[in-house]
Amino acid sequence: MPEQAALTRNLTDMHTPADWPVNETIERLLQHRTIRAFADEPVEASTIAMLAEVCNRTATSTGMQQASWIRVTDKSLAREIAAVCKQDYVAEAAELWIFAADCYRNSRLADSHDSDGMGANDMNRLTQAWTDAVLCAQNLTTAVESLGYGAVYLGSILNDPAKIIDLLQLPKLTFPVLGVAFGRAAQSPQFKPRMPVDLRTFENRYEAPADYAAAFADYDQVMTQYYDLRNSNRRLDSFSSQVCQRLADKSPRRARILQDIAAQGFDLKAEG
Ligand SMILES: Cc1cc2nc3c(=O)[nH]c(=O)nc-3n(C[C@H](O)[C@H](O)[C@H](O)COP(=O)(O)O)c2cc1C
Repeated sequence: MPEQAALTRNLTDMHTPADWPVNETIERLLQHRTIRAFADEPVEASTIAMLAEVCNRTATSTGMQQASWIRVTDKSLAREIAAVCKQDYVAEAAELWIFAADCYRNSRLADSHDSDGMGANDMNRLTQAWTDAVLCAQNLTTAVESLGYGAVYLGSILNDPAKIIDLLQLPKLTFPVLGVAFGRAAQSPQFKPRMPVDLRTFENRYEAPADYAAAFADYDQVMTQYYDLRNSNRRLDSFSSQVCQRLADKSPRRARILQDIAAQGFDLKAEG
C-alpha cells in the first residue's frame, strides 16, 4: 500500500480493498475507535437489557460463566471510580459497566451442595475468569459500537484494585478486570494508527524482524500524524518513543496487583 494511502486509511477513513468480503460486522470492527467524550443522553432500558444478554451469551471457558458485570448507575459512585481512573470522562458517559472475574458464585454454589470447592481459588480459575470477563467486555463494546454509540475501555480501574473492590463490594474470589464506559459520542477522533499487520500476523511460527527500529520506522512516522484527543488534542510521539517511555516506567503501583489478587483469596502458587 502506498504510504499516503496507508496514512489516510489509518487516520480518517478506513478504506478497505475492493476484494475483501467486507460485511456490516467487519465494517464495524474496522471502524473501531475509542470515544472519550459523551453526550448527555441516556441509553434506553430495552437496549441495556439486550446488551446484558449479549454479555451473557459470550463464550465462556469450560462453560463455567465466571465473569460478572456491575452497571454503575449511581453517579457519585461513578465519580469515585473516575477518581481511581484519574479520567473524568468515566463518570460522564451514560453507561459505566465494570467487568469482574468471578469465581465466588460457583464456589458458593459448590458450598451449597456440600461439595469440596478446593479448586475455586487457583490461578487456572482466575485466568479462565479473567479471560471470560475480557471477552464479555469486548462483546459489549462491539455491540455498543454496532448501535452507533461510542465506548472506552477502562483498564485504569486497576490503578487501585482494592479501592474498586471496596466501592463495588466485590466479595472474595472476585477481581475487577476491565471497565467499559459508553454512550452517544460527542467527539469524532481520528483512527489511531496500528502497526503494519505483518508485524503481528505470523504463519506457523513466530517471526522476529531482523531490525526492529527499521521495521517500525514508517509506522513511527505515521503515528506522529495522529492527534490524541485523550488529554490535550496534541500529536503523539512516535510509537517507538511511546514504547520506550512506557517500558522505562516500572509503575510500582500497578506491579502490586498480585498482592491485591492474593488478598481476594486467590492462591497464586508462585512457588512450586
Ligand atoms: C485493556 C484495555 C484497557 C484500556 N484502558 C483505557 C483506559 O483506562 N482509559 C482510556 O482512556 N482508554 C483505555 N483503553 C483504550 C486504549 O487507549 C485504545 O484502545 C488505544 O489507545 C487505541 O486507540 P483506539 O481504540 O481509538 O484505536 C484501553 C484499551 C484496552 C484494550
